[in-house]
Amino acid sequence: MKSDLIVTTRIFAPTQERLDREFSCHKLHEAADRAAFLQKLAPSVRGLATFGPAGADAGLMDALPKLEIISNFGVGVDAIDLDAAKKRRIIVTNTPDVLNDCVADTAMALTVNVMRKFPRAEAYLRAGHWAAKGAYPLTTSLGGKIMGVLGLGRIGEAIAQRAQAFGMKIRYHNRRKKDVAYPYDADAVALAKNSDVLMVVTPGGAETEKLVNAQVLDALGPEGYLVNIARGSVVDEPVLLKYLQERKIAGAGLDVFADEPRVPPEFFKLDNAVLLPHVGSATVETRTAMGNLQVDNLLAHFAGKPVLARVV
Ligand code: 8YV
Repeated sequence: MKSDLIVTTRIFAPTQERLDREFSCHKLHEAADRAAFLQKLAPSVRGLATFGPAGADAGLMDALPKLEIISNFGVGVDAIDLDAAKKRRIIVTNTPDVLNDCVADTAMALTVNVMRKFPRAEAYLRAGHWAAKGAYPLTTSLGGKIMGVLGLGRIGEAIAQRAQAFGMKIRYHNRRKKDVAYPYDADAVALAKNSDVLMVVTPGGAETEKLVNAQVLDALGPEGYLVNIARGSVVDEPVLLKYLQERKIAGAGLDVFADEPRVPPEFFKLDNAVLLPHVGSATVETRTAMGNLQVDNLLAHFAGKPVLARVV
């Protein structure tokens, strides 16, 4: 008999298909009466699959006293109450590494597009301005510029490698200094001061909330660019908007926002920002690998084996 599994939200279809083959899935997002749904499953359900922003809070864990494992689709687990899981001895798993390359590609695309203004140059051509008004204005080179990586983890390292291939130099800040050749800055302000591009790659959550604030953006300065592929919560978004509007920084490339999918419409008017709808890992290959890791974590646990990627 298949084990019961709660799925909190709509997930990548091939992953859901695989979950359906392995488990008896119960979709929380389709439940008409959430409380009744949880009450019915409480005596039996030991596993829960969730996806990025849907997460899992302490209330949900309380409603499922037999819960042993929460398996997240995505590396970021900021929407899961990790302390609550730890207290209840619930294992939390995620999908690291398999998405490093795609997220790093996205980080470089944002960097290139905000500095070289390719989206705007293309819009200029499509509007017929090339023939009518002449060449598109000159932009800014990446080569020789300094990228400050805020959060040099596995994704940060993949970005640093790519940025070096573009001729950029790397610096970084982490809570702890790492055994790497890149120069280290003691905090986000120092890193921003020493960088042309500040690349935000930290985890989300309370510890990094609004880490990139007015002080950091002042240190980045009017020639500096901000790129964020991490979480919107890491940046003080209203302050960033103001700094972009007033050109107190040169530009921003953003894949993530504070209240996704709601992006403040003032951002749409900016000509110095490149905006993406959180597509960092959004390729068929990478999402397939993430989904497989999510399912493999569950299968390992239900087979009595250690999970493949444990967070707590
Ligand atoms: C996904 C991400 O968009 O892995 C993460 O933490 O932010 C992205 O890869 C996310 O999993 C969607 O929920």
